[in-house]
Parts: sequence; structure tokens; C-alpha cells
Amino acid sequence: MNSAKNAPNPAKLTPNLGLKHRNSFGLDSTAELAYEITSADQLPALMKELGDKKLAWRVLGGGSNVILPESLLGATLLIKILGQEIIKADQKYSWLSVGAGVNWHELVSWTLEHDLPGLENLALIPGTVGAAPIQNIGAYGVEIGEYIDSIEAFDAVAHAFVTLPQEACQFAYRDSYFKQNPNRFIVTKVVFKIPKSWQARLQYADLAKQFSEENSSPSAKQIFDAVCAIRSQKLPDPKVIGNAGSFFQNPIVSTEQCEQLVQQFPSLVSYPDSNGKRKLAAGWLIDQCGFKGKRVGSVGVYEKQALVLVNHGGGTSTDILNLAKSIREEVLKKFHVKLEIEPNIL
Ligand code: EPU
Repeated sequence: MNSAKNAPNPAKLTPNLGLKHRNSFGLDSTAELAYEITSADQLPALMKELGDKKLAWRVLGGGSNVILPESLLGATLLIKILGQEIIKADQKYSWLSVGAGVNWHELVSWTLEHDLPGLENLALIPGTVGAAPIQNIGAYGVEIGEYIDSIEAFDAVAHAFVTLPQEACQFAYRDSYFKQNPNRFIVTKVVFKIPKSWQARLQYADLAKQFSEENSSPSAKQIFDAVCAIRSQKLPDPKVIGNAGSFFQNPIVSTEQCEQLVQQFPSLVSYPDSNGKRKLAAGWLIDQCGFKGKRVGSVGVYEKQALVLVNHGGGTSTDILNLAKSIREEVLKKFHVKLEIEPNIL
């Protein structure tokens, strides 16, 4: 038997790869050793090698939710595992298996073309399918966790592939088991379970407004188009201005604290949280502190949405983190609320 015949091609290595065009903030960063992973079966040998050499490693997906330092020492894994297919269907659900390197928005379009509605509220979110469950991406009243059947990943601690069913993923607002265990799992494949009984999800104010009485039962495609239009209006296009979407999470506070704040600030924006608490609109808090549109050197706060920090060009991770620090201090001083940074600081 010729075992070499079945061995996977090793992951392609590029030393000193510039990442400026691989992160949506447009930060200048160099990966000392960049490995391109095109197939899951490249991981066991590579991870063993990195372990033997005691090299640090991290995964970079679409680079849309990270703050990169000037240099990333050790190994940076670029996940390029592609492909999507419907693997199973019954009367109630369709199961869709998708490679971690597939572009998220392209997948959403693909599902609509293949008559699998459900993900349309999550249109135009940048990044990859593999990164989506880590922070449990969510928008317009939908979170990805509810559509996930299971996740396949390489577990660097057990040095083996694992399949985590939805219950094990501990999805919560912008959180998951993967986020709680950083540098352990490399997501290779996501299996979605999409209900066949589709219903429009229009509870979110911005969408409810779009679909008034004239068209109160829009199609999934119409919702997709509306979400794309709303996002393009409110959020900066990373190809034009560097950014990583929402820079802070919407903070969750007790109902009592929220009531006290409303007494002091009657126009405070808040929503009920699934655990009986209140979620505050961080964008509103930051806006009220006068930061919207403010520029500090090469970085700033987006003029149309105070929750988004932007790199006007030439900004560094230090510039961004310094601006974030002054925002957090002002919000804490004015509202006694602590903001948590949303993107991963590598
Ligand atoms: N607001 C202001 N001033 C601002 C920004 C917002 O007053 O500068 C107020 C708005 O008037 C609105 C409220 O804050 O009443 C909420 O704003 P918006 O609807 O824009 O949503 P968000 O809470 O700021 C969240 C997500 C977004 C997601 C939208 C839509 C987080 C951290 N962010 O933003 O996610 O697209 O809801 O569902 O949960 C992302 O994570 O990168 C992201 C863009």
C-alpha cells in the first residue's frame, strides 16, 4: 500500500505575509508564517508540527472582526475550506453543510437561490462561515446560533476532530463555547438546520418600518434586499473606510439600573434581553457622549453610527485602542455602564 498517495497536500506556507488587505480595519500587519488551509485533513500534521516547535498560532477568517498588531509572530492559519451542499432533508428541515472558508454573505445569497430562506436578516455581514458561530453573529432580530445543527472543528487540546452539536456550542448574545475557549478549536465545517416552515422576522424596528401595511408579508428576497439597503446606509463599507462593524457589545444591565438611567436620561434606547435583563444601545450611549463623527488622528468614530470605529487610513491598533479607551471612560463616567470591546484583539 502506498500511504503517501492518500496523504493530503501540506498547507501552503507564505512567510511574512502582509495582512493589510486581509483585515477589514485595513491595519498594517505582517504574519510571520501564514498557512493556507484548503482542506481539514491538512490540520493534524500542521498542528502537530506547530506543537512540536512550540509556535504560537491563531486563525484568521475573513479578518472582519479582528484588531491586528503590527506583527503576528508564529503561525497564522488562513482558512480557505470551501464548498456547500444540502446533505439531508425531511418534511420539516433541510440540512446544509458548509466549509468554514465560505464567505458568509455569499452563503446567504446561495441559500435564497436554493429556496432555503431563513438567513436573510443576516445578509451583508462581513466575514466567513467558520467565524460566524464564534461570536454568534446576529442582526435584525436573528442570531446564527438558532440555525446551527452542529459544528466540526479540530480540537487543538485533544488533537482530534470533534463535532459539537448545537447544545454544546453555548450560544448567547455575541458569545459561544468557542469564544469562551480561545485558541482551542479550528472550525472546519458548519452544518445548518433550516426549517421549511419559513416566517418573516420583522420585529426589529428598522425592518418593521420598511414593511408597512402596503407590504406586510414580504418575501425572503425582499427582506434580504431591505437588510442590504439598511446596512449599506448605516455601516461603512470596509473597502472604502476600514472598520470592524460594531466595536462594542450592547451592554446588558439589570432592569433596576435601566429604570434609574431612564429617569435621568428619558430618551435612553434599550431592549428586553432574553434573560429578563435590559440591553442598552451602546451606539446611543457613545453618541450622547459626543463622539459621533469625531476624528483623532487617523482613526475616528463613524459619522452615521457611533458604535463603529473607523480607520481613515494609516491608523494602528494602538490608535484604535486609545480611542476605545477614551470612549469607555466617558461612557462609564456619564452612565456608569462598562462597554466591552467586540472584535478580537490579537
Ligand atoms: N443609536 C444612536 N446613535 C448612534 C447609533 C445608534 O442613537 O450613533 C441608536 C439608534 O437610534 C437605535 C439604537 O441606537 O435606536 C440601535 O442602533 P442600531 O439599530 O443601529 O443597532 P445597534 O444596536 O447599534 C446592533 C448590532 C449590529 C447589527 C444591528 C442590527 C451589536 C453590538 N450590534 O447594532 O451588529 O447589525 O444591531 O441588528 O449587537 C456588528 O456586530 O458588527 C453589527 C453591525
